[in-house]
Amino acid sequence: MELPVKRTPGCPFDPPPELADLPPMGRLVFSDGHHGWLATSHDAVRTVLADPRFSTRPDLKHFPVPSGQDRRPAPPGLFSSMDPPEHSRYRRLLTGQFTVRRMRQLEPRIERIAADRLDAMAAQGPPVDLVQAYALPIPSLVICELLGVPYADHDFFQEQTADLVQLGIDSRRAVAELTRYLGELVRRKRADPGDDLISGLTGELTDEELANVAVLLLVAGHETTANMLGLGVFALLQHPGQRALLDADVDTAVEELLRWLSIAHLGAPTRAALEDVEIAGELVRAGETVSMSLPAANRDADLFDDPAALRLDRPGARKHLAFGHGVHQCLGQQLARIEMRIGYRALFDRFPTLRLAVPADEVPTKDDAVVYGVRSLPVAW
Ligand code: HEM
Repeated sequence: MELPVKRTPGCPFDPPPELADLPPMGRLVFSDGHHGWLATSHDAVRTVLADPRFSTRPDLKHFPVPSGQDRRPAPPGLFSSMDPPEHSRYRRLLTGQFTVRRMRQLEPRIERIAADRLDAMAAQGPPVDLVQAYALPIPSLVICELLGVPYADHDFFQEQTADLVQLGIDSRRAVAELTRYLGELVRRKRADPGDDLISGLTGELTDEELANVAVLLLVAGHETTANMLGLGVFALLQHPGQRALLDADVDTAVEELLRWLSIAHLGAPTRAALEDVEIAGELVRAGETVSMSLPAANRDADLFDDPAALRLDRPGARKHLAFGHGVHQCLGQQLARIEMRIGYRALFDRFPTLRLAVPADEVPTKDDAVVYGVRSLPVAW
């Protein structure tokens, strides 16, 4: 079987219906012809992600969909593509930077960023594309804060990060520009440190490592959060009865949106078996790649009651695997949660009458992108 990509007709939120009928571990033909596996149950996905006999090294793995993924070993600093113990060293250093204190400091900055974007939307007047006006700029500007990008460079940074996720634009140019910029930023921080993440790591990492860490944080934290904001608002607009629950318990609401939307949808994450391993009664042989279906795991009926329903007050929503699991579990998850909490609430507080400006079936979705979301979301109020 190949990875099913066709969503439920007419529903932009439900994953492909075939996923529900697949075994916990099923055979899957990858984009390069490799015969690997697709893990679909919550238990199988967690088990693989927690097992050190599975590697995330790109030179060992195959990819379920054509994704332009580089199959060379990770360059220094790109720890998401490394196994322990190499990965552990970077992860420890980075965890030391994603502190409660730094997240607390960022919170008022994120509130300010959201308020500024809302002012700009109000000044522009409806209809507005929420993706361009709100969902994309927020994570881009938050990463500027995290990395200590000077205010004067924010416009440049935002333009390049927008190009990074824009369809039809060759993103290689934006990646090259941002890599060059972040390399320069690292050198500036070394000479003149501030209270930011890059400055906090100059004593531990080389310029090359730090520039790659910065690019990784940008790539991992930008489009994911933007898609959760854009798609999440679309889901909230389509479920007006649930909206009140956002105010009652925003933390649970955010967890349920993460579970229900599972934006890392096309067979990511992936892992290659380093030796023969039995998972859910199937023998995965050394060298075979397992692709994890987070949408299927997050709608596993063994764990979630009535899993296809969006219930913003769902008890146990937090058991979802939208941020992965194990040693590679999302480093930026606390930051992403803060951005979503502030992002959803500030928007509906400012525009309580927010509505779609086009029929729901005309909202373009990113079905074939590795990270699912909406390409644009025209709204009015
Ligand atoms: C809602 C938004 C987000 C989602 C759904 C998400 C999802 C994920 C997932 C599923 C993984 C695991 C990948 C794997 O196991 O192979 C991951 C890893 C990672 N994420 Fe996120 N992410 C989000 C936001 C962020 C943000 C805001 C940042 C940083 C600013 C970030 C940085 C990272 C990094 C660095 C890793 C690699 C961790 C490691 O390998 O140790 N993510 N993310």
